[in-house]
Amino acid sequence: MDASPYDRIVAAKAALGGDLAILAHHYQGDDVYRHADFAGDSLELSSRIEGLDASSIVFCGVTFMAETAAVLAKPGQNVFIPDPKAGCVLSDMAPAPLVAAVIKRLRAGGRRVIPLTYVNSQAEVKAVCGRYGGSVCTSANARIMVAWALAQGEGVLFLPDQNLARNTCDALGVPAGRRQVLDVFSRGRTIDTARLAGKDVMIWPGQCVIHSRIKPAAIAAFRAEHPGALVVVHPECSPEVVAAADSCGSTSHIIGYCEAAPAGRTVAVGTEINMVARLAKKYAGVKTIVPLMGRGCSNMAKITEEKLARQLDDLDRETPVAVGPDVREPARLALTRMLNACRAAGLR
Ligand code: 13P
Repeated sequence: MDASPYDRIVAAKAALGGDLAILAHHYQGDDVYRHADFAGDSLELSSRIEGLDASSIVFCGVTFMAETAAVLAKPGQNVFIPDPKAGCVLSDMAPAPLVAAVIKRLRAGGRRVIPLTYVNSQAEVKAVCGRYGGSVCTSANARIMVAWALAQGEGVLFLPDQNLARNTCDALGVPAGRRQVLDVFSRGRTIDTARLAGKDVMIWPGQCVIHSRIKPAAIAAFRAEHPGALVVVHPECSPEVVAAADSCGSTSHIIGYCEAAPAGRTVAVGTEINMVARLAKKYAGVKTIVPLMGRGCSNMAKITEEKLARQLDDLDRETPVAVGPDVREPARLALTRMLNACRAAGLR
């Protein structure tokens, strides 16, 4: 009988030993997640790369995460992803040529606008940010990085997630009148730079197709049914949803929040379903974890245990994630600025 994907992965890990590191994002399904040497949110996963000595890193997540790992990897290290088609709809909302055209437009009058991209973006977009003195942020460090970017120049272009941008501005006290969601169509030609003079944060109009589906009404209905229950959401949710929740933060923040919730309490979680289901199972009988919506990320779900097993069956013949040097160097600069700013702020 053929060995199961589980057994093939266990055997490959034993054979490769320290030459292999498997990283997984919290949104991975349990059958993949259980094989991870390290699981984390986007910031934890990117911060982890520098300390890895394995010659092969297999990244169970979506392509922008694997690309980020490839940009940060040391010479001689290869990064693989079990399905390179595991994209991110949000990251596709800001293609690099359009980002470059918009930043040029915003800077046309000599204003030193600093681009700050959410990590959910293509490596080419991170490269554009690196070239223009900008950086990257994740849901875990967005406040630190928006404050950093505001201190670098004369306004910030935040992309591509408008909800994360608005939630972060709310948290930092950037008034609504000093931010503007941009019209980025027609390659930014319709952007009136004179009208943006008083705007500190200029916001790309993208959003996550999963988190943006969560509505404040779902929280109101949940609270009516479960008086005294708690609600925690991801900052890719709208500001209205964040305002209706008790807490908001990265996937690791959400995990910590559920862990800290007192026994016997009910916690509603507004994020991707795989992670919520795992938390519900973990705390069954102690506290009740329920999803605010039932949607999974179809791209994260493209990484299956069978695809991971197939990749590990013969890793030498697999094609690593490739990021050319013209993109890699400026993208690395943007990411290094983020990791340094986080270290300086005492965050990981
Ligand atoms: P975290 O950085 O919170 O893990 O989020 C990543 C993500 O893509 C959320 O949709």
